[in-house]
Amino acid sequence: MTYIVRPATSDDLPGILLIHNDAVRNTAAIWMDEEADLADRAAWLADHIDHGFPVLVAVQGHAVLGFSAYGHYRPRSGYRHTVENSIYIHPDARGRGLGFALMKPLVAHARADGHHVMMACIEAQNTASIALHERLGFREVGRMPEVGRKFGRWLDLVLMQLMLEA
Ligand SMILES: CC(C)(COP(=O)(O)OP(=O)(O)OC[C@H]1O[C@@H](n2cnc3c(N)ncnc32)[C@H](O)[C@@H]1OP(=O)(O)O)[C@@H](O)C(=O)NCCC(=O)NCCS
Repeated sequence: MTYIVRPATSDDLPGILLIHNDAVRNTAAIWMDEEADLADRAAWLADHIDHGFPVLVAVQGHAVLGFSAYGHYRPRSGYRHTVENSIYIHPDARGRGLGFALMKPLVAHARADGHHVMMACIEAQNTASIALHERLGFREVGRMPEVGRKFGRWLDLVLMQLMLEA
């Protein structure tokens, strides 16, 4: 599969929206039921850019195959050295290495920007995401039973952590 990974621009927003809303409708990866619209995703991209946080896309021509990003883990100032990542691949492009290809430069960006820790908060049945993060060196540091609910079932949260500094 031929694609390039690059920073997202506003031209990528329709593709990002499509992937985001598919994950809202069909997965327990995003713990919400309300789909987003273009204005919401534009505000999300602008907020990341304003804070110097990256949003990366994998694209084939004009088609967005997936995106990765990180932002504040929690808003209070004491957490300022910790970031939390997001990674979403188009349903037709999963399992072909794109998740890894979008996460590697994201982690490198966080290291280069001097962040200390990257967190991933993953629904416990999401074996693909847990496997992807383990491959990147993340380790499970916590498990919170039944803190979420979607599709008529309780969701457990797995906290995974990567130390960015040696
Ligand atoms: C989770 C997700 C990002 C993984 O991306 P991907 O492109 O499908 O994953 P990759 O092909 O890069 O695989 C990365 C690693 O995860 C493993 N993996 C991928 N899919 C897997 C699955 N269904 N079950 C177990 N392991 C899996 C791969 O084997 C690979 O490890 P390896 O190289 O050691 O074999 C993608 O499936 C996705 O977007 N899912 C829906 C949204 C989501 O869950 N996002 C994460 C929220 S925390």
